[in-house]
Amino acid sequence: MDNGENAVPNVIIFPLPLQSPVNSMLKLAELLCLAGGVHVTFLITEHNHQRLLRSTDAGSRFERYYLGKFSFEVISDGLREDHPRSAEDYEGIVNSLQGVAEPHLREMLRSERGRKVTCVIAEAVFGYAFEIGKEVGIPVFAFETVSPCYLGVYLCIPKLFEEGQLPSKGEDLETLVTGVPGMEGLLKVRDLPHFCRAKDPWAEESGKLIMAEIHAVPKAHGLILNSFEELDGPIMAHIRTHCPNTYMIGPVQQHLKTRLAERETTMPPSSNSFWREDKTCIQWLDEQPEESVIYVSFGSQNTLTMAELMEVWHGLVASGVRFLWVLRPNTLRAAKEVLDQNLVRELKKGCLECGRIVSWAPQEEVLAHRAIGGFWTHSGWNSTLESILAGKPMICWAQYVDQLVTRRLVSEVWRIGVDMEDRCDRLSVEKMVKELMMGSRRQELKKSAQKFSKLARESVNNGGSSYTSLDHLINDIRKLSSIKHFQNNLSCIG
Ligand code: UDX
Repeated sequence: MDNGENAVPNVIIFPLPLQSPVNSMLKLAELLCLAGGVHVTFLITEHNHQRLLRSTDAGSRFERYYLGKFSFEVISDGLREDHPRSAEDYEGIVNSLQGVAEPHLREMLRSERGRKVTCVIAEAVFGYAFEIGKEVGIPVFAFETVSPCYLGVYLCIPKLFEEGQLPSKGEDLETLVTGVPGMEGLLKVRDLPHFCRAKDPWAEESGKLIMAEIHAVPKAHGLILNSFEELDGPIMAHIRTHCPNTYMIGPVQQHLKTRLAERETTMPPSSNSFWREDKTCIQWLDEQPEESVIYVSFGSQNTLTMAELMEVWHGLVASGVRFLWVLRPNTLRAAKEVLDQNLVRELKKGCLECGRIVSWAPQEEVLAHRAIGGFWTHSGWNSTLESILAGKPMICWAQYVDQLVTRRLVSEVWRIGVDMEDRCDRLSVEKMVKELMMGSRRQELKKSAQKFSKLARESVNNGGSSYTSLDHLINDIRKLSSIKHFQNNLSCIG
């Protein structure tokens, strides 16, 4: 019955069905496959699988490099084909997926067929994955693909409710929140999610999901984070009081490059994008002077009203600074409104002298380009880490959840960027862009960003903090597998 196959760790990875979690979890999957002797099953929705296959070489890439070690397990997300699947309906997407994924995962973990599952690595928001793990006796690790500072703050939310600081009374969003380690004098009511100031917080769907996540994380077998000790060490000290078994293995994008280089595996630049990358912007950047261009991108989910979109364009043009702007087809706020391509053509024509507009860019390559001098970002965690890696200072325009906390750290603690708060009128845009690209604080911000870039790279080199932490994670997974192997053998004898 046992032919030794069961000693090979078999890990199920289960990301949120959104661009950035899929991207960072695929990178973790590659890191595990590269470690040798680990098999990964990547649980992905049909919709996202199709998008990956349409816009990247992910299918053939994984087959070529990780044949036999990596496989996709494709499931429905329970939504109609024409559902926009935008973050505006985040709760709807997560709840619909649960209807399909919960029984599917249970079946996968219970199945007697094929390779036995050693452990699961799931997005922390899938509280049911941790329950199923407990039910069937299979360890489940949580991977928080968002910022550790977000997690550190959110773990305190139940305490803030108990103390009566929340729900916040009054309308003053500037009120400081006290008692959150590492955030004294920094964290404001406006940085917390909306349900923290709702009259009936527990009636809000977002509140229920966030609270479920906060309660699930400490129950996980271990907690994996995409960051590095030298950046997030102080907040980690607090997180470890809730979850002692943590692994900080990031930035995963750079970590993967290091491990591939160690194996002398020459892999062309790869992408896990849901949109096809427009590489023509790299040729345009090649023609621009050093550090002369600001890169503008608000991630894969954030949306703008039409009025904001026009203010961004006018402000950028008025600044006189060269820019590269990612204007996704789903940039507009109302889910059904698709960006009018005639308008995009007009905007492009109107800035031929000073800018480029693309629908999706090879962001890591763009940020690393010598012509890029700064990044106007929405403070999504992947974008923030990629900017840190490239040593580029930022303008933060955060809209929700982790972005609101991350921008505080970027501007006030790490001091690698400036925060534009909610001011998105053309004059403020012009002023912020000029300030970042040629203002008096530019050198200070750049120096700080470059310091963290160096630390990030060192952390994923052999002996670095993230490198060592990933080794621990892999060893711990191997140990789990040999315990399972031993138990299987015992039950065979029995
Ligand atoms: C979402 C949430 O908005 C964010 O708050 C949370 O931190 C992660 O999940 P998203 O909007 O996708 O994130 O932003 P981010 O985490 O920054 O990820 C965007 C990813 O898309 C990055 O890896 C970036 O490199 C990539 N990207 C973006 C491209 O490859 N090309 C582009 O043109 C734009």
